[in-house]
Amino acid sequence: MMNACAISAWFRMLMTTLLCGMCGTALLSGAAAQESRVAAPAAGTLRQAGEARHLTIGTAAAASHLAEADYAAILGSEFSQLQAENAMKFGPIHPRPDTDPNPYNFVSGDALVAFAQSHNMVVRGHTLVWHNQLPEWVTKGNHSPAQLGEILHSHIKTVMAHYASKVYAWDVVNEAFNDDGTLHPTIWYDQPGIGAGTGTKYIELALRWAREADPSAKLFYNDYDAEEVNKKSDAIYAMAKRFKKNGVPLDGIGFQAHVGLHFDDPAKLASFARNLKRFAKLGLELHITELDVRLNDSSPASLAAQAKLYGEITTLCVQQPKCKLLQTWGFTDKHSWIPGFYKGQGWALLWDDKYQKKPAYEAVHDALAK
Ligand code: XIL
Repeated sequence: MMNACAISAWFRMLMTTLLCGMCGTALLSGAAAQESRVAAPAAGTLRQAGEARHLTIGTAAAASHLAEADYAAILGSEFSQLQAENAMKFGPIHPRPDTDPNPYNFVSGDALVAFAQSHNMVVRGHTLVWHNQLPEWVTKGNHSPAQLGEILHSHIKTVMAHYASKVYAWDVVNEAFNDDGTLHPTIWYDQPGIGAGTGTKYIELALRWAREADPSAKLFYNDYDAEEVNKKSDAIYAMAKRFKKNGVPLDGIGFQAHVGLHFDDPAKLASFARNLKRFAKLGLELHITELDVRLNDSSPASLAAQAKLYGEITTLCVQQPKCKLLQTWGFTDKHSWIPGFYKGQGWALLWDDKYQKKPAYEAVHDALAK
């Protein structure tokens, strides 16, 4: 026997079925219209959205911030990759000469690796050969080319061996080119250089030493302002092509993507896509390694424009099958390098300085989930 309640529930169900049968199309199209107007709530983390796309979602991090609860919680849940912002650079990791009983300092790098491992994240290494953040014992040591070659070889060998099976990919060489496509003067290249000969020969040597040091690591060349097809990216492309032809071990290219709102230009974005495509055709893996979008203020309009550009760059990576990593240079405006390097600018990342998600977060998430 049915009680009154059950009868009324049954009656409602019957009426709904009948009504839906009669005007099903109208009801459905109404619901669809509703859906397209109201954005679906962003389900899951960036990391989960990236996994569905087979895309690693990375960020640069510093060991000194891990004690901040919000910092650690976001880092360990939203990202599937961690890269040391500074800890694995030459100066911080190799502060004393090899003649010292304790030439290396792996403390911060090891802390970051331990954090990553305990949160099931992969680690990307940055960087072995660069003109910045070198210790004085290297820059002021008056070493001969032969000595410098030995220093660099042994540095690459020691650091990569220390992180073998923990760091899956390395920016072996960082920022070797000028905007006009010529090589940037450095102690490793021509001041006095490692004596390897001319042109990109020192980059080739570094890559060969890196392959020897950890044969399972993926080896990258990384640079900034080489997102578009321009003189710098042409020079990198020519080098990569030559390296591929000659069997020099190069597995991928890192595009830093430190941009401002001026980059939100259809011609620039199309050029970025074209550039990624030509590198992809060489069989190289492509990583967006240091993405941030700096602003002059944090007005709602600026944050919206920033979100749009973040979404567009994410989509470029999603649409290019060889693009395997989308990484931002930090994640909270509280700890971004931008205010210190670009006067008056900032607000460049996905979380604000109070660890609140910004519109850019939703835009990246939506572009991954699309
Ligand atoms: C920056 C760090 O974010 C700063 O903390 C540091 O003081 C200087 O270097 N390109 C790179 C990164 O390859 O290593 C730089 O990182 C940012 C530009």
